[in-house]
Amino acid sequence: MVDAEVGPSPDAPPALDVQAATRTVTTASHSSRHRAPTTVPPLPSRRAPGAGWPKSTAGRPARTWQARPMTVVARAPGRVNLIGEHTDTTGGLVLPMAIDRRTVVEIERGGSTLHLVSDDEPDAAVVALGSSVPPAEVHPVWARYVAGVVEVLRPAVGGRGRVRTDVPIGAGLSSSAALEVAVALALGFEGTPIELARACQSAEQVASGVPCGIMDQLASAAGVEGHALLVDCHTLDVEPVQIPDGLRIVVVDSGQRRALATSEYGARRAQCEAAEAAIGPLRSATVADVERIADAVLRRRARHVVTENERVRAAVAALREGAVDELGSLLVDGHRSLRNDFEVSTAVLDELVEALCRRPGVHGARLTGAGFGGCCVALLDADAEVPDLGVRSWVVRPSAGASVVQAPT
Ligand code: GLA
Repeated sequence: MVDAEVGPSPDAPPALDVQAATRTVTTASHSSRHRAPTTVPPLPSRRAPGAGWPKSTAGRPARTWQARPMTVVARAPGRVNLIGEHTDTTGGLVLPMAIDRRTVVEIERGGSTLHLVSDDEPDAAVVALGSSVPPAEVHPVWARYVAGVVEVLRPAVGGRGRVRTDVPIGAGLSSSAALEVAVALALGFEGTPIELARACQSAEQVASGVPCGIMDQLASAAGVEGHALLVDCHTLDVEPVQIPDGLRIVVVDSGQRRALATSEYGARRAQCEAAEAAIGPLRSATVADVERIADAVLRRRARHVVTENERVRAAVAALREGAVDELGSLLVDGHRSLRNDFEVSTAVLDELVEALCRRPGVHGARLTGAGFGGCCVALLDADAEVPDLGVRSWVVRPSAGASVVQAPT
């Protein structure tokens, strides 16, 4: 931390050069691989208005330096996926929304280690910049996501700080994506939301060993208040789709932790790739193409993906027309497909979806996220009572994506 009363000449570079740090970040991130964003606006600037060296009252640079706090505060929301499950890894369509639950990371920049404490964790995340320890082997477990971001972004400067969140942890609302995105911004990441999402997707992969798609990080980075995001995961075009006021979105926790998600997620992804080897890209395949797959399991996996992409298109049309019953039916069909064809549901999730759909004012429900436990998402009339099924639930609102709320001064 720069805390010198008398320092070098005001023309000298600062000891902690935030611009240099962000340059390093930009170079070390995957800018050459990134496509220019089409519809996503740039992230708000992280340079505070009037930020710079202290000036004397005469307008000349002061000879004596003041303490220059380098505190950065960044926040990133969790997400819920309305429909479009297990389609992102084959370049298909998804319809997630950022939610009004966020992770806030506050860092005092400086030094060559990133040291974060969390209100929710007994042990700190301590990550040495340039460490050779693979992020997936770091302890405590939550520090792996911090280490993943550090490994991908390679920031020049670390810091000390704190993490707070009201995203339910481990419930399938992408608490890890929210952490990654907030840490990346707090470390000075500069780029588009798509670049931010791609960097954090890589961070998640190295931290968890799961070959996840881009949906969670992109929803967190690019969320638009009042809207879900129609994402084409091949082109990475993002189109905000308004959520009607009359719709209440509720996330219901099955209480079942996602035990098999790590191993089975990779297996499903490999099966989709095997199906693509037989009939070409699933994102442009038809149900008739799928019927040509000889292996019955691969055929089912591919049928889920192809029909799910169709359901996303139909769901967007239903949202635009305010056809909430139609939207609800699509969610239920999606759940059935995840259960029968993609086989990522559980008996607990199936019962929860059925129980939710029996309640008055509920238009539809389905498991959301990777499956094997986690949460269901349900669509309710705005004035309908949230069903009390004896499990945790949260009413969530479509919210804005990640931002820096306090830039370094
Ligand atoms: C997880 C992954 C996402 C996506 C979903 C399933 O949340 O991180 O990329 O594949 O599962 O739709």
